[in-house]
Amino acid sequence: MRPSPSIPAWAFLALFTLFQWRLLLFFICFSFPSPAAATVTQSMAANKTDDEALLAFKSKISQDPRGVLNLWNDSLHFCKWPGVTCGRRHRRVTMISLRSKNLVGLLSPSVGNLSFLREITLTNNTIHGEIPHEIGKLFRLQVLTLTNNSLEGQIPSNLSRCTNLIDLSLGNNKLRGKIPEELGYLSKLTQLSIYENHLQGEIPHSVGNFSSLEILSGSENFFEGSIPQALGQLKSLTALGLGGNKLSGMIPSSLYNLSLITIFSFGDNQLHGSLPSNLGLSFPHLQQIDVRNNRFVGQIPLSISNASELRLVLLAYNHFNGKISNSFGSLPYLTLLGLNENSLGDGEEDEMHFLGSLANCSSLKVLGIGENRLGGSLPNTVGNLSTSMFYFGLSGNQISGVIPEDIGNLVGLTLFDLSRNRVSGKIPSSIGNLQNLQRLSLYDNGLSGRIPSAVGNLSWLSELYLDFNMLQGDIPSSFKNCTTCCHYIFLIIPLVAAYPQNSLAFPLCQFH
Ligand SMILES: *[C@@H]1O[C@H](CO)[C@@H](O)[C@H](O)[C@H]1NC(C)=O
Ligand SMILES: *[C@@H]1O[C@H](CO)[C@@H](O)[C@H](O)[C@H]1NC(C)=O
Ligand SMILES: *[C@@H]1O[C@H](CO)[C@@H](O)[C@H](O)[C@H]1NC(C)=O
Ligand SMILES: *[C@@H]1O[C@H](CO)[C@@H](O)[C@H](O)[C@H]1NC(C)=O
Ligand SMILES: *[C@@H]1O[C@H](CO)[C@@H](O)[C@H](O)[C@H]1NC(C)=O
Ligand SMILES: *[C@@H]1O[C@H](CO)[C@@H](O)[C@H](O)[C@H]1NC(C)=O
Ligand SMILES: *[C@@H]1O[C@H](CO)[C@@H](O)[C@H](O)[C@H]1NC(C)=O
Ligand SMILES: *[C@@H]1O[C@H](CO)[C@@H](O)[C@H](O)[C@H]1NC(C)=O
Ligand SMILES: *[C@@H]1O[C@H](CO)[C@@H](O)[C@H](O)[C@H]1NC(C)=O
Ligand SMILES: *[C@@H]1O[C@H](CO)[C@@H](O)[C@H](O)[C@H]1NC(C)=O
Ligand SMILES: *[C@@H]1O[C@H](CO)[C@@H](O)[C@H](O)[C@H]1NC(C)=O
Ligand SMILES: *[C@@H]1O[C@H](CO)[C@@H](O)[C@H](O)[C@H]1NC(C)=O
Repeated sequence: MRPSPSIPAWAFLALFTLFQWRLLLFFICFSFPSPAAATVTQSMAANKTDDEALLAFKSKISQDPRGVLNLWNDSLHFCKWPGVTCGRRHRRVTMISLRSKNLVGLLSPSVGNLSFLREITLTNNTIHGEIPHEIGKLFRLQVLTLTNNSLEGQIPSNLSRCTNLIDLSLGNNKLRGKIPEELGYLSKLTQLSIYENHLQGEIPHSVGNFSSLEILSGSENFFEGSIPQALGQLKSLTALGLGGNKLSGMIPSSLYNLSLITIFSFGDNQLHGSLPSNLGLSFPHLQQIDVRNNRFVGQIPLSISNASELRLVLLAYNHFNGKISNSFGSLPYLTLLGLNENSLGDGEEDEMHFLGSLANCSSLKVLGIGENRLGGSLPNTVGNLSTSMFYFGLSGNQISGVIPEDIGNLVGLTLFDLSRNRVSGKIPSSIGNLQNLQRLSLYDNGLSGRIPSAVGNLSWLSELYLDFNMLQGDIPSSFKNCTTCCHYIFLIIPLVAAYPQNSLAFPLCQFH
């Protein structure tokens, strides 16, 4: 079996960059001193409480390889301890910020005694155990960022008492259970980030109460049931990510009222229905749409061309059908177009014409249209596609005609897969210009003539599939020079031995 063509993983990672937006929030929230702080009087008792609570926090950290908390000792006022920030006048702890410090341990319930806390940030450590419910006492808390730790147990419902919370980021932990219904009281929340946990159950309707929410990222959990209609009330929402769950039903039409949406991500669920024809007009700021691997049907909305900020369009692994009649030329930032594994096209002559409109997309890196029913022949304008494109997958269609010589312009390609189509004629020698090519797959077509010797000079080529064609002649001698090609060639299908319809000798390169 040959490896099936797939879009590289880095492309999907682009979806997660949004979590960095909280840095921006940080500046918004903490650039201004709170007027309440000035009225607070200093007292011995108060500073003793903070001191004790911080030492209790330290006592629950079992490993601190960098010795950050060694400096948390009474030879220095706690306001000067690394990672601790105090209010300027009242000298009470307002922030604990210890990101990426390799700390291992528990989160002490004593943090609930730091009653002036406005921010806790422990991103990128190994804090395990549960999130202490005592955090619910911190009514001034605005930012709770525990992303990328090993926290277990449930999200404490008492967090709903932290009514000033703006950013609740618990992504990439081991949290279980449901989203507590009570969290709906957090009406100031702008970011709720709970991706990559083991959360389950339905998404509560109380999410409709997050009236300030801008970012909801709950991908990679076990959420099930339908997407609540109430999400459509969150007018400030810009990023909505619920991919990699078990959500079913249709996307509620109310969601298409969220005109500020830039990221719309529901891939890897069990959703059905179709995308509305006015999608691109409903979401004029759309940058990423990912509904891959669901059960969507219908046409790719033509209005996609109106969403001129689009970067990523990932509709692969669905049942989308009809022709690709879109004009993509108005999408200058388009980076990834993944339409593979659908039912697009009817094998008709004009079905490759859309490729011409992609010539304007100078940022295009990944184009996947494999495993559909697309007919027609590759237009000469394929040579005008972006030279930054590295993935061009067209396998498993009904593409006919010849491979245009101009394919040699696409010098960025690392993968070119035209296997299992109906192309004929020769393999253009210009393929030899594609010096970055690692995988060239042309098997199961009607190609004839010789293998151009230039293919043997592609020094990064590691996979070459040419079987099931009508190629003739010898393997070019360029292939014999193992110092230029074989070092990277792991696999060449033996043409004659396995597939007698070719009249070629077996390949000569050995695996080093
Ligand atoms: C508490 O405050 C007093 C007076 O402001 C100061 O002398 C003392 O060092 C403080 N103690 C701690 C632990 O911060
Ligand atoms: C206590 O903290 C000071 C710096 O504030 C540091 O120089 C000293 O080594 C620390 N003491 C211990 C026992 O770690
Ligand atoms: C919080 O402070 C109170 C009073 O100082 C103390 O009795 C209690 O043990 C503290 N709680 C935690 C969890 O440290
Ligand atoms: C967490 O660690 C990753 C990888 O080391 C790094 O890219 C990221 O910036 C870190 N995040 C924070 C908030 O420090
Ligand atoms: C999570 O934190 C660890 C350090 O604890 C870091 O090595 C890793 O890269 C981080 N992962 C992410 C996705 O930021
Ligand atoms: C948090 O809720 C639990 C039960 O849900 C309760 O026992 C506990 O007292 C609450 N803690 C705070 C700090 O409100
Ligand atoms: C949602 O908001 C409404 C009105 O603001 C309030 O009555 C209700 O209790 C809230 N529900 C939750 C779960 O927060
Ligand atoms: C979308 O918003 C309009 C007006 O803002 C409203 O009339 C309509 O009902 C909303 N549609 C849905 C499906 O919520
Ligand atoms: C949407 O795009 C189409 C085709 O590119 C164009 O004809 C139409 O005017 C656009 N509509 C709006 C509202 O911009
Ligand atoms: C390509 O881009 C140019 C300039 O950005 C624009 O004028 C033209 O209409 C675009 N072509 C298509 C097919 O959209
Ligand atoms: C495609 O590129 C050729 C030159 O390689 C150029 O003459 C032609 O105008 C281009 N076509 C488009 C539509 O950009
Ligand atoms: C094989 O490669 C070496 C090193 O790149 C080169 O010197 C030699 O001329 C090549 N031989 C052939 C037959 O291409």
